[in-house]
Amino acid sequence: MHKARLWCAALVVGALFLTVFVRAGDDKPKYTIEQIMKAAHSGSKSLQKKLEKGTITDEEKGKLVEYYEELGKNKPPKGSAEDWQKRTTDVLTAAKAAVNGGAEEIAKYKKATNCKSCHDAHKSTED
Ligand code: HEC
Repeated sequence: MHKARLWCAALVVGALFLTVFVRAGDDKPKYTIEQIMKAAHSGSKSLQKKLEKGTITDEEKGKLVEYYEELGKNKPPKGSAEDWQKRTTDVLTAAKAAVNGGAEEIAKYKKATNCKSCHDAHKSTED
């Protein structure tokens, strides 16, 4: 019957639209750089500090990795896109190893999240 065919076509078109939308939504960062910096890096209660001290929960470990996944989707206020991609990918890889690893992985992660080096390259100078 023709009706069945129409339904089929409608389903295919619908599915295509959905994929496009979901993909597009995926590329938009869930958190801003500012939000990520505050939660992951700022102060003695940051996720980074908790990871170093060993007081981080499994849920927070997942959150930390998620923040770094989102970090790379953001655009930094300055600096080249290539360098930003490299840095954020390095940080993500190091963080993933650190949440599953020991002292050695955590030390590497600390190195990868060198605040000044990344800020010099990508944070705007007026603040
Ligand atoms: C991979 C790069 C990168 C690393 C590593 C990094 N930052 Fe940042 N950080 C940025 C960028 C880019 C901004 C500027 C965001 C903006 O202005 O939109 C920023 C901004 C900040 C801010 C200001 C947020 C605000 O209120 O606007 C703080 C605080 C901060 N970072 C703390 C840290 C600390 C502490 C570390 C080290 C433990 C660190 N960051 C490591 C890239 C990085």
